[in-house]
Amino acid sequence: MSNTFLRMNSLNIFNKNKTVLALAPMDGVLDYNMREVLTQILGIDFCVSEFLRVTNTLYPDKVFYEVSPELKTQGINLNNVPVFFQLLGSDSEMIYKNAQRAISLGAKVIDLNFGCPAKVVNNHNGGAALLKSPNEIYKIINKLKVSLPSNITISAKMRLGYETPNHSVDIAKGMNDAGIDWITVHCRTKLNGYKPPAFWEWIPKIKRGINVPIIVNGDIFTLNDYIECKKITENQNFMIGRGALYNPFIFHEIRNYENTGIIEQLEPEILFTQLKKMIFNFYLKALENENSQYAISRTKQWLKFTLSSNKVCKYFLPIFETIKIINSSDEFKSKLDLF
Ligand SMILES: Cc1cc2nc3c(=O)[nH]c(=O)nc-3n(C[C@H](O)[C@H](O)[C@H](O)COP(=O)(O)O)c2cc1C
Repeated sequence: MSNTFLRMNSLNIFNKNKTVLALAPMDGVLDYNMREVLTQILGIDFCVSEFLRVTNTLYPDKVFYEVSPELKTQGINLNNVPVFFQLLGSDSEMIYKNAQRAISLGAKVIDLNFGCPAKVVNNHNGGAALLKSPNEIYKIINKLKVSLPSNITISAKMRLGYETPNHSVDIAKGMNDAGIDWITVHCRTKLNGYKPPAFWEWIPKIKRGINVPIIVNGDIFTLNDYIECKKITENQNFMIGRGALYNPFIFHEIRNYENTGIIEQLEPEILFTQLKKMIFNFYLKALENENSQYAISRTKQWLKFTLSSNKVCKYFLPIFETIKIINSSDEFKSKLDLF
């Protein structure tokens, strides 16, 4: 493990004694506006953008800015939280060219997506489909590592495998040998989809084979999940996606637990009140930056996510039922404001 921390010194994120907490990328959900609202709460070390899918095109600047407007401020958002740029694809040369452009626009970290389960992506050998071809993964990472400036960090996000987790240790080892700086592991195979459970028990095995940091991801919805995940994985770096939409204060709860050892979680009613305010803020922000249909549909989407949370579902259900059929922005705003 000795060179782990040396390799990270270009970006002081990983540190022997500090818990790292990242906000997961969620294509079609976690956009610039939502990243801004969520990072107003302290505790998130970094975010990852939605993915830019690379085929045979070098995209113009505006496409990069659409995926991550934070590039305009050197990949740091308004709350001073870094946002790393995610690329998805299978052609190492084209990924390299697009990575180069992202970097020229301000990206400091390029994250590679080897976990997306979407058919349209997998049919073109992108995302999780590449887990079936570790040599291709090696080629992509190595191309970036060798060709991009040495101050640029390359990370990867993988699932445990395509059909089976049995090759996860070798896949991660290949990434390590290709020069990856860290790996985020969503603890499921592509065939598992998003079905619980997440198989956290693979993490110690994967860690033993590599010398870069691992970030554990999958099914951390509550502070208790975090504590259990930490125990099983013996890890100190975590990424949270859906859980952040159910309870954005989870990052704060984890930090508080790490600092004091106290298990303190917001009461459901308080969580509801705070979360509702955040969703309303998100709506206003999206309205400011995007068109009203976008703002309305993304806000409905966030509200729908809250219905999967045992803690706040009962509070949000009547709101969702009321606003789900509204498509005019004035009516939407006044109805949201009512609750
Ligand atoms: C709607 C949705 C979109 C996602 N988009 C991305 C993406 O663009 N890039 C990526 O690496 N993972 C993506 N993921 C996977 C998440 O980052 C994360 O790995 C997964 O949700 C498990 O973590 P969680 O249980 O904390 O949500 C997506 C997941 C969901 C549910």
